[in-house]
Amino acid sequence: MSLSFRGYRLWWKKYPMMLLSSAFCSITTALTPYVAIYLTARIINEIAGERDVATLRLLVWLSLVTTAVLAIVNAGLSKWKTYERKALWYKRDKFYTGKLLSMNFKDVDSAQTNTLRGKIQQSDTWPAWGLGGLLADFDLLVESVLTILGAIVLSCSIFIYKVPESAGKLTVLNNPIFILVLVTAMLAVTFTVPMLINKGNSYWANYSGDITMFEKYRIFMTKSSPERERALDTRIYCQDVMGKKYLDEAMVHGDRATTILRPMRFFHTSSTAVSHVFTLLIYIFVCLKAWGGAYDVGSITQYIGATTALSGGVSGLLRFFGNQQNNAPFLMNVYEFLDIPNEMHLGNKSTGKKKENQYTIEFRNVSFKYPSSDKYALKNLSLKFNIGKRLAVVGQNGSGKTTFIKLFCRLYDPTEGAIYLNGVDIREYDYREYMDLFSVVFQDFNLLSFSLGQNVSAAVDYDAELAEECLVKAGFGERLKSLPNEMETSIYKDFNKSGVDISGGEAQKIAIARALYKDAPFVILDEPTASLDPIAESEIYEKMNDMVGDKTAVFISHRLSSCRFCNDIVVFNEGRIIQHGGHEKLILDKEGKYFQLWNAQAQYYTT
Ligand SMILES: Nc1ncnc2c1ncn2[C@@H]1O[C@H](COP(=O)(O)OP(=O)(O)OP(=O)(O)O)[C@@H](O)[C@H]1O
Ligand SMILES: [Mg+2]
Repeated sequence: MSLSFRGYRLWWKKYPMMLLSSAFCSITTALTPYVAIYLTARIINEIAGERDVATLRLLVWLSLVTTAVLAIVNAGLSKWKTYERKALWYKRDKFYTGKLLSMNFKDVDSAQTNTLRGKIQQSDTWPAWGLGGLLADFDLLVESVLTILGAIVLSCSIFIYKVPESAGKLTVLNNPIFILVLVTAMLAVTFTVPMLINKGNSYWANYSGDITMFEKYRIFMTKSSPERERALDTRIYCQDVMGKKYLDEAMVHGDRATTILRPMRFFHTSSTAVSHVFTLLIYIFVCLKAWGGAYDVGSITQYIGATTALSGGVSGLLRFFGNQQNNAPFLMNVYEFLDIPNEMHLGNKSTGKKKENQYTIEFRNVSFKYPSSDKYALKNLSLKFNIGKRLAVVGQNGSGKTTFIKLFCRLYDPTEGAIYLNGVDIREYDYREYMDLFSVVFQDFNLLSFSLGQNVSAAVDYDAELAEECLVKAGFGERLKSLPNEMETSIYKDFNKSGVDISGGEAQKIAIARALYKDAPFVILDEPTASLDPIAESEIYEKMNDMVGDKTAVFISHRLSSCRFCNDIVVFNEGRIIQHGGHEKLILDKEGKYFQLWNAQAQYYTT
């Protein structure tokens, strides 16, 4: 139950109106039938007894008006409830996306987090489980409690009225043993029915645990494979055939599901049968008592209605508790995910005013292993550089260049050693403020299907003049003029049919412009020109000093000619810095890696 309470607290904190509207709606839903039951019983009694027209008229009017008023109120409240619950999946997913965006990057990346997310996604496809399931259960709880209260009020007199002596043998019904039998039967039914339902549902819960791997495939195949970026690969390498293997697995799984879930249907059918038997017992008892003259015929409706509802209410309540039990493993997954600690946000020091640009960065004996790996991606790295420098990072594939950047802008913390900004361990700084110091063009950057201006500014509203200036600097000026709506042109066609498709190099220019627009003191470009044509590339490098101004720039590039304008070059090899210095110095070391890398490229340019 404590798991469910936590879930309700989460909902309440974020969307209080959703729970309130549900509660009010459930109140009217639970009470409406009782008004009808009570007034119908009075009307039938009047018809069978006194037959006073005035009383009858009053009762009919009362019945009509209260039913109508309750129906209108209930309809209004239902509308409110529907309104509050609209886009429920989106509201629910906000708990997860909020967490994903704030958690340590290493955890976003980890296999364990991925498995947890897969499990959560899987349970969220069914409305009964996880955080979403709690909402349906909330309705069940409120309705059940109110139904029980209403039924007790309306049915307790069933045992008070006695069959008169004149009824002969039927007076036996006055024997308290019948009270005992009926109450026992009712308790038995109210406990048995939900027990059977919960037992049935537990097959569902077990089954769902069984298919986590299948769901991972399904989510991957259905979400990822139709993506535009993958479409070419899918066609060229016939990846759909690979996908088919997993979809076939899904079919087999579907067959298995039918077998696994068969007992569930058995338990659900049994629960219905048991409650019908109980209703039959009640009918016999109540009708016989009325036959003997214990009460008027109209009360039959009232008692039958109320006792059936009572049993339904108790069943509902027990079903609620059963659901909480069955939902517990799903909720535990959710909380395990939400509780992933976030040490990145522990620091609170300010990085100072961005504009002052007085920064010194030092890597001191930094080593790093990715969480999923036993191998060091960086080993014992020491490096110091000041603001305003141009640092080039070169090295073979897998030598640790991108990892170095990821540590620098604190996507990961070092496994050993520390990074200092102005002499202070970067972990002590406020995470958000520290992040603000960086403009990065990652190797695998992403643009969004929004307008060009929004892509450059990474904001909904933006400074069009500045965005244009950055695009021109990044070499996108000519192309900008040719766009139908210039800055307002949508990139790609996902949301706008007049959107434009752009080439890889153009995308890279936009990504560079985005880095410039942010105007952060550190500009980091990881293979910024890999997709650029030679002319665009040389233009970028010619303008680079201009573009970067007094900022610190770190360039990673496999095109060593780009290093020439950098006053500092570090050469990475197997996670270590093996050479450090200016181009002129490094090129002299004929045995060094730098010379080897330089030469490997230069030989094709010499005639
Ligand atoms: N998320 C990750 N999890 C585990 N290992 C990783 C991860 N990313 C990179 N690695 C490993 O860390 C090492 C360094 O990778 P890194 O991406 O820093 O290389 P790089 O020098 O940038 O290479 P490239 O020139 O190909 O971009 C590689 O051995 C790589 O396999
Ligand atoms: Mg890289």
